[in-house]
Amino acid sequence: MTFHIITIFPNLFESYLSDSIMKRAIIRKDISVKFYNPRDFTKSKHNKVDDIPYGGGPGMVMMADPIIAAWKKARGVKRRAVAQVKGEKKNYKTVILSPGGKEFTTAYAKQSAKKYTDIIIICGRYEGIDARVKKFLGRQADEVSIGNYVLTGGELAAMVMIDSISRQIPGVLGNASSLEESRVSSHEVYTRPEVLEETGKKYRVPPVLLSGNHKLIDEWRKDR
Ligand code: ADE
Repeated sequence: MTFHIITIFPNLFESYLSDSIMKRAIIRKDISVKFYNPRDFTKSKHNKVDDIPYGGGPGMVMMADPIIAAWKKARGVKRRAVAQVKGEKKNYKTVILSPGGKEFTTAYAKQSAKKYTDIIIICGRYEGIDARVKKFLGRQADEVSIGNYVLTGGELAAMVMIDSISRQIPGVLGNASSLEESRVSSHEVYTRPEVLEETGKKYRVPPVLLSGNHKLIDEWRKDR
């Protein structure tokens, strides 16, 4: 899976992608992450990527032009590629991140990992993105929110999506059985020590987990 990230702050991704499971996934080439900075696609002298909103109002709006130019670069087309480009083996999806988009879920992550080879993620900032980006992209783009709260930009949301989709790609998690879904409806988990002593109180691991009886353990887990 290749993630193409359109952002004016690519540095924000550095630490997350250079450690732990994401780092390993990149080294193993299970995923790759590419960046396209709208600032590099501006036509103006001062590399302007935002401007005041028509009709008035607070804040700045991200301009459509540099984002569309960055998207074309990521998509590898000169025009608007409605669906598959002839002879292309890749399968692209574009995501526009916005707090008003449809909710990102594990089901969405799973489906995306299965269906697409390339996901282009457009990160908004400020008061939002000129609505014509969405109009230009039409049905090849989903507007997606990672939750019912407003972030200062789409970068954190993009990292959440990269993480959640990547873990659905075979090989990314070392041990497939640790796929989170089996933990979502989750049982309690314990590790050493068997007895934890804290502030005069003893916290014990449930005896069934020490029993070695896997039938009983499975039943206990189902009840959690
Ligand atoms: N940008 C700002 N808030 C967001 C959210 N909750 N989800 C996706 N993108 C966002």
